[in-house]
Amino acid sequence: MSVTCVFGMQWGDEGKGRVVDLLAAQSDIVVRYQGGANAGHTVVVGEERYVLHLLPSGAIQPRTLNVIGNGVVVDPWTLVREVDELEARGVRIQGRLKVSDRAHVVLPYHKRMDVALETLRGADALGTTSRGIGPAYGDKMRRAGLRTADLLKPGRFEPLLRGNLAAWNAILDRAGLEPVDVAAEVAAMTEIAGRLRPLVADTTALLGDAWRAGRRILLEGAQGFALDVDHGSYPYVTSSSTGPSGVSAGTGLPPRALDRVVGIVKAYTTRVGAGPFPTLDTGLAGRHMAQRGHEFGATTGRPRACGWFDGVVARRAVATQGVDAAALMKLDVLSGLPELQVCVAYELDGRRLDAPPAWAGDWETCRPVYETWPGWEEDLGAVRRFEDLPAAARRYVRALQDLMGTRVEMISVGAERERFIALPGGVPDEVAA
Ligand code: IMP
Repeated sequence: MSVTCVFGMQWGDEGKGRVVDLLAAQSDIVVRYQGGANAGHTVVVGEERYVLHLLPSGAIQPRTLNVIGNGVVVDPWTLVREVDELEARGVRIQGRLKVSDRAHVVLPYHKRMDVALETLRGADALGTTSRGIGPAYGDKMRRAGLRTADLLKPGRFEPLLRGNLAAWNAILDRAGLEPVDVAAEVAAMTEIAGRLRPLVADTTALLGDAWRAGRRILLEGAQGFALDVDHGSYPYVTSSSTGPSGVSAGTGLPPRALDRVVGIVKAYTTRVGAGPFPTLDTGLAGRHMAQRGHEFGATTGRPRACGWFDGVVARRAVATQGVDAAALMKLDVLSGLPELQVCVAYELDGRRLDAPPAWAGDWETCRPVYETWPGWEEDLGAVRRFEDLPAAARRYVRALQDLMGTRVEMISVGAERERFIALPGGVPDEVAA
């Protein structure tokens, strides 16, 4: 399979970086196609732990070419910092990174606007990562954005910026925040443009040529399906199309270029930021998941709320994004819980729902319909074959596979690279759920 997309099927933080790192070892090119520095992908290699926000997680592999596609909103300062940090740790990035000339740029004012808009929302704040994502995509969609190509033309960005800031400064003023100093913003951009220049390329042409030549391309989604701007828990979402449906728009590869879609799903659910979370567990089980799973945001350090597996969300992700196989992450975290709940449907005003409701207010009041499964005590860290899992764990995985309607072909049992179980063909039929 030469073109594979990996994406998150929940509210982000499913452990995508880990799977991308594994698949990147068999890829020539690794591509980010949406989102920005709001992502936080963690990869553990031996004693080393890398957290990447903007670079594809595949960058840790020594030989891949790394591409930041046109659908990404690029914070050039974060990008340069990540490149410098990796280089300082001995991971060579120079010469292995290309940034689309059509990618929009996140400027310091976008971050300030993110904070200002959250402040003005008051109790209805979305809980964004404050990385300027919404305002940058907002500028893009209202056709007032600045792209990396603009940044490289000194006479071009200043008038664009002045036009934008006239409107934005009025909002900052209302939120009680200092207006943006245009001259300072222009000076900062002029400085960073020099670092970006050697990286910027027509990545659409590059990827199209690579696809036609049969090169192995891995597309790396950020955030997750339930944060998708169209299919997620709107407005408690991010501002991009997080799944494979965003690949074509965000790279210029034709939709039919995709050969395989791998959905990443955690064995339970976590969420940062505001919005619906019907399977939230604020009791012992939720605390167990938070502690054993080290559930703190890789970007913001915020604690993640934890709860049971939400089959309604996962099934919708499979149905709308065309998932060929799922990777089930962090199964080891559930060891020690006497019973496991799995949400198979929602109940809203006495009605059973098999899909999430459109309105976030309804979604928030949905009650999960649970099936209960027996837990297991054993530590799973050393297990490498599905048959060696405790029977209760095998049945749990089978139940999730049946519920999602896609094969579970990979299971992670720990953060380290080697701690996973490969399961080609999915959970066998003899394991009855
Ligand atoms: P934004 O993407 O910063 O605008 O944030 C919008 C929503 O998406 C908030 O609920 C964030 O917590 C959430 N979000 C954004 N990026 C991630 C991520 O990488 N993992 C988990 N949640 C995220």
